[in-house]
Amino acid sequence: EKGGYEHFMLKEIHEQPKAVRDTVMPRIAKDNLSVILNELKWNKEYLDSFHKIFIVACGTAYHAGLVGKYYIEKLARIPVEVDIASEFRYRSPIIDEHTLVIVISQSGETIDTLAALKETKRLGAKTLAITNVVGSSIARDADEVIYTWAGPEIAVASTKAYTTQLVTVFLLAMYMAGIKKCISPERTKQLLTQLRKLPDQIDRTLEDPEPIKTFAKKYGFNEDVFFIGRSLDYDVALEGALKLKEISYIHAEAYAAGELKHGTLALIIEGVPVIALATQKSVYEKTISNIKEIKARDAIVIGITSESNDTLVKCVDHVIKVPNTDELLIPLLTVVPLQLLAYYAAITRGCDVDKPRNLAKSVTVE
Ligand code: F6R
Repeated sequence: EKGGYEHFMLKEIHEQPKAVRDTVMPRIAKDNLSVILNELKWNKEYLDSFHKIFIVACGTAYHAGLVGKYYIEKLARIPVEVDIASEFRYRSPIIDEHTLVIVISQSGETIDTLAALKETKRLGAKTLAITNVVGSSIARDADEVIYTWAGPEIAVASTKAYTTQLVTVFLLAMYMAGIKKCISPERTKQLLTQLRKLPDQIDRTLEDPEPIKTFAKKYGFNEDVFFIGRSLDYDVALEGALKLKEISYIHAEAYAAGELKHGTLALIIEGVPVIALATQKSVYEKTISNIKEIKARDAIVIGITSESNDTLVKCVDHVIKVPNTDELLIPLLTVVPLQLLAYYAAITRGCDVDKPRNLAKSVTVE
């Protein structure tokens, strides 16, 4: 049932090209000029009735929500707030019929997410679930559902659910932008053409895990690892750090690169591994200057960037490159080496990859 892989997690990492393909392909129009979400029957009036969107989720799904905020704000220009479900429930958020609440959950059974959904419905908000399990509690309770077609995810550490959540929030943002006409046909075509290429590109990022295995062996016994990035790279850094801590038990922290000097830089000393994501043009130079500050303290920097980048290599110790795509979509590629790094670090340390200590796949109790 593990299809020849040693663990479900590795199998599921390798299933990502198919999972992403199944989730996006039926939803892109043949001419790449629009997104088809037959599950939603929205029009401009309906969309304009929302003054605000909340995205509510836990763990990895919350990290997908952060990317969703970026996509929706950037493409559809609607304000979005992202909340951790267990916090959202208890902080009396301001919600009414002009609010859209999007919940994201792989299992569709996470108790905090489900409770947040019920509470927001009670307050009159419209609700939309993004989930992987057909007929799950969250799917049944929400007003509308968009399914991720990742297939069953068995490993406790979420991988293919995350990438399919990312493409789903991307499709949703494009759908909204299309309705609001705040994206040009040229830009739509450009993005959807790139989106079609993603499954094959994810495949390519999986082709040669050897450099990552080497890093895992080399740094697998370090006590701390830091992940840094800005903008979308920061969102992916958060997910990379979560993956590493949950399955390898290495203490990992993700920081917005610009936030380092407000405290964490004190922990950056000789030999500490720092994974630096640098893919976003608008903040690239800023990230580079943060990397230089880190190198000045003799930490080890592993940079992650796109194939066409030839400058990062000059200021880091190692570079991992992913295929070129639009910078909005690159999180789908940069997260893959981070998943593999967590996997191989866990193997190096002899951890039970599919069933990490103290964790359950579906958190149905508070
Ligand atoms: C981490 C992980 C968890 C889940 C979280 C939410 O790898 O899997 O953080 O993402 O428990 O679960 P769902 O998406 O089922 O609501």
